[in-house]
Amino acid sequence: MTLTITPLSGVGAEITGVDLAGDLPEATFAAIRGAFADHGVIFFRGQNLTEDDHIAFARRWAPININRFFAAHPAHPEIALVTKEEAQKDNIGGGWHTDHSYDAIPAMGSILVARELPASGGNTLFSSMYAAYDALSDGFKAMLGSLSAVHSARHVFGASPDTAYNRTDAGGGRIGNADVAETLADVVHPVVITHPLSGRKALYVNPAFTLRFDGWTAEESMPLLQQLYAHCMNPAFVQEFVWRPGSIAFWDNRATWHFARNDYHGHRREMHRITLEGEPLSA
Ligand code: SIN
Repeated sequence: MTLTITPLSGVGAEITGVDLAGDLPEATFAAIRGAFADHGVIFFRGQNLTEDDHIAFARRWAPININRFFAAHPAHPEIALVTKEEAQKDNIGGGWHTDHSYDAIPAMGSILVARELPASGGNTLFSSMYAAYDALSDGFKAMLGSLSAVHSARHVFGASPDTAYNRTDAGGGRIGNADVAETLADVVHPVVITHPLSGRKALYVNPAFTLRFDGWTAEESMPLLQQLYAHCMNPAFVQEFVWRPGSIAFWDNRATWHFARNDYHGHRREMHRITLEGEPLSA
């Protein structure tokens, strides 16, 4: 098999010619790691990973982050279940976001494996925070580069959730461990980060978890945040991934946003997600 990396429009690359269940040679793994750093999200088709294969592949990248808020796979706690049942109305991730920006050391990314798909719908959109940054003027980049932003999960997973970023369990109840969420301290990250793998600049604010600019009120922050969010949703930076059996998406939270479409009511969708630990972020 020949490993081929095909860049996609907007963001991401599709990688073919590799069986992720196999024992990947170091050179193959290095090529995949390079594609991940360059493209922000990588996609694979026609894979046949068992849960153990999924965990083994993930461990090759970084330690696994056990999710505090999602239901875990009953036999494999490293795997978070991202499930929507037939009777459920809300889905997990049904708004633009980047995972774990509310952590002091945000997660590197997630490896999402399709397990059960609706006949149609349930696509996931990704947006490039490299491209969103690159498209700004030098003056705007310099101004944003002087800012930091405050992030939190309390309004999402805590006792008084904002439903804009829906997270529900398999029965339709809101996922979360409100007690854990309430104890989370707010964290501050640069608005423009230097990506720890690629060295490129990327925008690092998101509609789900960013509260305000550091030193600004929420009211003062909102107009500029909304302007940035609208910019980041520009279709020029977006790729819509259509899931098929055997599909895998592996995204980098420091370089992309994602958004799970909730357009398949009455049908079941089950995905297995492993999230990987990241490293401290800097400007
Ligand atoms: C998520 O936000 O992790 C869910 C993505 C998806 O289900 O497509």
